Amino acid sequence: MTTRRTPLILGALAAALAFAGAPAWAQQAKLKVGLMLPYTGTFAALGTAIENGFRLYVAEQGGKLGGREIEWFKVDDESDPSKATDNVNKLIKRDNVDVLVGSVHSGVAMAMARVARDSGTMLIVPNAGADAVTGPMCAPHIFRSSFSNWQPGYAMGEVMAKKGHKKVVTITWKYAAGDESVKGFREAFEKAGGQVVKDLSLPFPNVEFQALLTEIASLKPDAVYTFFAGGGAVKFVKDYAGAGLKASIPLYGAGFLTDGTLEAQGAAADGLLTTLHYGDSLETPRDKAFRLAYAKGYKLQPDVYAVQGYDAAQMLGIGLAATKGDITKKAEFAAAVGKARIDSPRGPFTLSKSHNPVQDIYLRQVVGKENKVVGVASKALADPGRGCRM
Ligand code: PHB
Repeated sequence: MTTRRTPLILGALAAALAFAGAPAWAQQAKLKVGLMLPYTGTFAALGTAIENGFRLYVAEQGGKLGGREIEWFKVDDESDPSKATDNVNKLIKRDNVDVLVGSVHSGVAMAMARVARDSGTMLIVPNAGADAVTGPMCAPHIFRSSFSNWQPGYAMGEVMAKKGHKKVVTITWKYAAGDESVKGFREAFEKAGGQVVKDLSLPFPNVEFQALLTEIASLKPDAVYTFFAGGGAVKFVKDYAGAGLKASIPLYGAGFLTDGTLEAQGAAADGLLTTLHYGDSLETPRDKAFRLAYAKGYKLQPDVYAVQGYDAAQMLGIGLAATKGDITKKAEFAAAVGKARIDSPRGPFTLSKSHNPVQDIYLRQVVGKENKVVGVASKALADPGRGCRM
């Protein structure tokens, strides 16, 4: 008789002991993290860098955040806004994720923010700068670990005005990120007395730049401001130099123009000045440790996208630590992340009321294969968060 019952009793006893001896959250299921990123197309490398950075931080925490192991779900969003709502619903309805992490493209991120607002799902944006995400679409459970499109543009407007440029042409992709980057640039540049003589654009993700480069040559501005990123940035920088414009009309940009792209751009990128919240030569102990760990783990040099992914995981970790792993405690989660000083490789940052990083925007110059930090273009720059009410 006892032979049958003993294992049952022992099993119940062991379970009771384990329960009594462990913190409450040790009983929780895995945390379902839904990564919605581009793994194909012009931003493919950016998506991979974000995932690498995110996973690096989780690995450094022993594979757990807030005491919970992670279960990963992934969707390739192809940087295609027309598929974004279906893609995000796959993660929410099919996979039942606890938190969404994405994306790179502003149009895709706005669709994600809309669904996150409607469904109440936690969202951390690890790149896309769409001003609306931390503007009219802001919400207590929506956070950004990266930047707003306004930020690097605004900082560069001040830099170019100080350099004495008066008449500038802008060129970008015609979508939220390009439009808002140029708008931020224009706001600061015109405030300082400069004039934007022409805004040029082409549809995302086209890279047929020749006709526009010919137009720049004939307009003869003092300088050019641009937003391009990923594969498109590689081609633009090469075509600009190839058209013989680099020596006569200085090219400036939001730092995405030369981030994660320098190997492919080669000499065409030499000397370019850009503004961004990260650079390759910060030389702080925090950044050195991050860069070493990233290079060891992935046999790749990190870039701004890797940092943003890493910090998205840090922010999630901060929120989960405060709620003992219970991501449904949204108010406690938001309070903890909202008051945190996030120890980023870029330098410590805090979040604005609308949950966008308040951060230093560096002035960087391409020297060889590095975006060398040559100064701080704008100290602790906060996005105005226009239209955010929460
Ligand atoms: C964006 O669409 O918001 C975007 C994409 C790539 C970047 C930066 C911003 O590098």
